[in-house]
Amino acid sequence: MSRILAIETSCDETAAAVVEGGTRILSNVIASQTDLHAQYGGVFPEVASRKHIEVIYAVVHQAMQQAHIGFEDLDAIAVTEGPGLVGSLLVGVNVAKGLALGRGKPLIGVNHIEGHIYSLWLTEAAAEIEFPLLTLVVSGGHTELYLMRDHGQYEHLGGTLDDAAGEAFDKVGRLLGLPFPGGPAIDKAATDGNPTAYDFPRAVMEQEYGYDFSFSGLKTAVMRVTRRFQPERLPVNDLAASFQAAVVDVLVTKTAQAAAAHEVTAVHLTGGVSANRGLRQAMSALPVPVRYPPPILCTDNAAMIGAAAHWHWLNGRFSPLSLDVTPNLALLGSY
Ligand code: KG4
Ligand code: ZN
Repeated sequence: MSRILAIETSCDETAAAVVEGGTRILSNVIASQTDLHAQYGGVFPEVASRKHIEVIYAVVHQAMQQAHIGFEDLDAIAVTEGPGLVGSLLVGVNVAKGLALGRGKPLIGVNHIEGHIYSLWLTEAAAEIEFPLLTLVVSGGHTELYLMRDHGQYEHLGGTLDDAAGEAFDKVGRLLGLPFPGGPAIDKAATDGNPTAYDFPRAVMEQEYGYDFSFSGLKTAVMRVTRRFQPERLPVNDLAASFQAAVVDVLVTKTAQAAAAHEVTAVHLTGGVSANRGLRQAMSALPVPVRYPPPILCTDNAAMIGAAAHWHWLNGRFSPLSLDVTPNLALLGSY
């Protein structure tokens, strides 16, 4: 049974957690910077890394306190090594290295996307999970479809060609004058809108896209419509509902095709956008079980990094103290 302290600072959440056996959360502390970045309408990288430095020690301390354990009880220190913002990643990785060296614990670098995938093992569904399964990671930086045949085995079926799903939500949120982050704001606005008011393009029928995703044309189409209105007369709810319907359509169509082609036992939705109510509802029509984590585990957190790290620990996959950050790490490697 592993006990791992995990640290996550890839974007604008400073997070630390203690996870036991890859499934049990002993603590899960998240200091969000969302309010700080709202004034800029998006994450300001330099501000994010400085804020991580200010709060990281308090966040780690709190995670250890809430878990009611000491450093001597830990089996490893895990940390997100990438992808993410370089300055943000550096804070977490250096703190993790310092702790590993100072406390004599092994270090485990974890890919952020692998973390999102493992958020499902922290839910009640963990005991029912069987392979092969399909995971759709939909976050601010990623829209990736992975086929998993076993722990640590990732077959990349398709991914972001331009804007990630969450990025599209955030950019369209800005176009509609909604607060940052756009995703939850559009989700809310869409509940009072007509999803068929505007027929926005869906990059889904064209064969050349395969399982890859493209949302930049959709964003441009929304922008064109917004230009027809005075800002105060913008039909925000209808635009939000129609935009969300187009994103959901593409995500559900491709996920359903991949699920059928690979005869998976279940579909897992992870990442910030998996909190979207329209997406969850549409996915529920799939002929296999569709699972998603509770909202607190959908967005960035360190518990998911600890869950993924458990399998590295079991396989003796540790990182050297020379571990570097990999901000642009595109694909998740198997082991
Ligand atoms: O996974 P996450 O916290 O960070 C990344 O790794 O990127 O995802 C953040 C993204 C943001 O783009 C945010 O707008 C989006 O998730 N998001 C949502 C919802 N909640 C968060 N998008 C659509 N509907 C939501 N309810
Ligand atoms: Zn994330």
